[in-house]
Amino acid sequence: DNSTTRTLKEYHREAAELYHHILVNTQLGESALEYLHQRGLSDDLITEFQLGYAPSKRLLMPFFSEHQPDYQLLRKSGLFVESQDGKLNDRFTDRVMFPLRNAVGQVIGFSGRLLAKNDNKPKYLNSPETELFNKREVLFNFDKARVEARREKSIVLFEGFMDVLAAYRSGVKNGVASMGTSLTEQQVYTLARATKNISICYDGDEPGQNATKRALELLNSVERFGLSVITLPEKLDPDEYVKKYGAEKFADRVHHGKTGELDFYFSYYQQDRNLTNEQDQLGYIDDVLHELARSNDPIEQDLYLNRIAERFQITKSNLETQLRDVRASLQ
Ligand code: CTP
Ligand code: MN
Ligand code: MN
Ligand code: MN
Ligand code: MN
Repeated sequence: DNSTTRTLKEYHREAAELYHHILVNTQLGESALEYLHQRGLSDDLITEFQLGYAPSKRLLMPFFSEHQPDYQLLRKSGLFVESQDGKLNDRFTDRVMFPLRNAVGQVIGFSGRLLAKNDNKPKYLNSPETELFNKREVLFNFDKARVEARREKSIVLFEGFMDVLAAYRSGVKNGVASMGTSLTEQQVYTLARATKNISICYDGDEPGQNATKRALELLNSVERFGLSVITLPEKLDPDEYVKKYGAEKFADRVHHGKTGELDFYFSYYQQDRNLTNEQDQLGYIDDVLHELARSNDPIEQDLYLNRIAERFQITKSNLETQLRDVRASLQ
């Protein structure tokens, strides 16, 4: 750590404390606190994650000004936006604040959520790129999950903050969020330092399922992970699932409802297809054989070939021939 990053981290730590204080102890935070309660978060969980509330564009500067701050550094911190006349106003206003931490738990940025839908503003606003914060590297809750991963021997990958929190209160504490649907290579390297077993539990909607496929491909390209997928019904995201079916059902699904990579693809490729239609059947079989071709486990292959043969009434030897062709085409 050089002195610049040390100071920037100090500003972030202080901002997180202040946002949290506003949320839990002041009238300014009342409606935000009520919002979080409505979403099922307890006061303990709010404290554990140091969630906060950013009320107005004039919270941080008066606070920092009392401590002779370095204005050049404040300008570079990402906590402010500069007005025309060079004044620094808080970047985050009227948002619930999620502190984003590095691997050792130091606050390096924030994401702020609107309390109510607003078509003119993004639902989540993140810190800009700074000397501390690179969105492509950060995984929400990685600091806690990497410790948990030693016990659980795995990490669960979610899309969003509220999903990680919903999992956490269900007892699934080894969850991280890629903060959106596109996992990055840097995030994968971070994950690899903590565990070789990853479960993907993205939203059950179509973007979530497409992102699951992309995440599997990326993970496979970086490292030999043990990969599994937790699929949620009715296009629900994990947070919505917990709300609808309860924490126990969710934890149960995470522990016992995992499917392997190939099982994921077998259902994924059914999307948008009518499997009573011959053309769709052929496309489906071709897609799953391409996935199967990457497996070098003969028993696994046999199992899945049997499944396809039975389901579509095809002779297995024909499937084997086609699998060989696919494999040859991939060389
Ligand atoms: N996200 C973001 N900016 C947005 C929308 C989403 O950074 N404008 C990130 C957030 O980390 C969010 C994740 O992508 O948690 C997943 O997005 P989405 O599924 O749309 O949001 P939810 O996590 O379901 O948020 P909520 O339940 O609060 O509506
Ligand atoms: Mn309440
Ligand atoms: Mn989503
Ligand atoms: Mn979601
Ligand atoms: Mn959600």
